[in-house]
Amino acid sequence: MLYGDTASYAIIKRDVRILLFSGKGGVGKTSMAAATAVHLAESGRRTLVISVDPAHSLSDAFDLGGGLFHGKTADPLKLAERLFIQEVNINHEFKRYWGAISAYLTSVLRTTGLDSVEAEEMAIFPGMEELSAMMYVNQYRRGTDFDVILLDCAPTAESLRFISLPTTLDWYMRHVFHFERNLLKAVRPLVNRVSPVELPPDSYFRNIQELFQKIEGIDKVLEDAAVTSARLVTNPEKMVLRETQRAFVYFSLHGLAVDRIIVNRVIPNVVRDSFFDEWRLSQRRTLEEIEQYFAPVPIRQVPMFPHEVLGYERLGELARNLYPDGEDAAAITRSATPYSFARVEDHYEVRLDLPFAEKAEIGLFKKDDELVIEVGTIRRHVGLPTSMAALQPDKARLVGRNLVVEMRR
Ligand SMILES: Nc1ncnc2c1ncn2[C@@H]1O[C@H](COP(=O)(O)OP(=O)(O)OP(=O)(O)O)[C@@H](O)[C@H]1O
Ligand SMILES: [Mg+2]
Repeated sequence: MLYGDTASYAIIKRDVRILLFSGKGGVGKTSMAAATAVHLAESGRRTLVISVDPAHSLSDAFDLGGGLFHGKTADPLKLAERLFIQEVNINHEFKRYWGAISAYLTSVLRTTGLDSVEAEEMAIFPGMEELSAMMYVNQYRRGTDFDVILLDCAPTAESLRFISLPTTLDWYMRHVFHFERNLLKAVRPLVNRVSPVELPPDSYFRNIQELFQKIEGIDKVLEDAAVTSARLVTNPEKMVLRETQRAFVYFSLHGLAVDRIIVNRVIPNVVRDSFFDEWRLSQRRTLEEIEQYFAPVPIRQVPMFPHEVLGYERLGELARNLYPDGEDAAAITRSATPYSFARVEDHYEVRLDLPFAEKAEIGLFKKDDELVIEVGTIRRHVGLPTSMAALQPDKARLVGRNLVVEMRR
């Protein structure tokens, strides 16, 4: 099959699913990604989990024994029939794809007096790991080896950087890179003679361009709800929930569809010890808040187990809780983000999917940095991005299945 052929490309694109697991540190992202992989592989899908977290723990979740796998291989490792894992190793990636860029950065850093090992270490800048992972995702989704690609992300802040990378890079490419390159062409003959720091050679720019080609198109793929869905993992605790809400707003802002909220470590009712009474009560309250905030995105609860979730068998047990009754973990259940934001002339707009709303029964108000929308007895909280947090709801109108709220100062 030719990749350049648009008809066959469309077929491949529809078939590949990308599932991204994100959430605050320690909530259970790796466990959920690994369990989902076990479930999918057993249901007949060729599944790859890629760890995007520099502090890899994917092989630990499968209980492979640290020294056995870490850093030894950069390519997908087969664990079971149709089940593969890959931990992106930045040192390896550096040698494989970042040659000219790293050589240049290292040479610049060495002029500051750093020795070569330190300079090489410093030349790894934030985002390189995510970018490398992104290149792999792009390569695999164009290829035919895998049906589902799961991304085990680093804690929220880094995974937010991950999803905004294509947009940021695109901007750099168009505005800074071309400008810089042209400018350097003009000044290099002069500057290299007088400056202690060498200006980047052409190979540096060629390397950057190659990397761009490797991630080309990934932004559209991440925004396509028929391909990519994000699953936010959280715990029924207030502090964890706040971060989940921020991630939800940010994902929506980037057009990424969140298709499930996974609430992990819910204390099961079988726990009778009075020590947990207060915990159970506060978990119940937070669970109610979660239901209200994220509706209509489906919420899935996973109990706290009496043990860690390590190894294939226990991941399988987790998967049966996560996807009960033979549910298809790769099904496309949401076609769009639940809300989107736009700037329109002199104001901003929030657009929500509210299929059954009647205009007469809609109430709007602001609470802190949230827009609260009441439709009859149902209440929806929409977290606002920082740029809109100071605005007030002004007017609302129904456009088809959407409610459009105008926000003004
Ligand atoms: N429902 C659960 N019951 C008991 N233990 C759990 C449960 N979910 C996860 N764990 C355990 O909690 C620990 C942390 O889980 P995990 O590594 O999946 O979290 P994470 O969100 O990926 O963490 P990090 O932010 O460090 O990547 C692991 O030891 C895992 O086995
Ligand atoms: Mg993890």
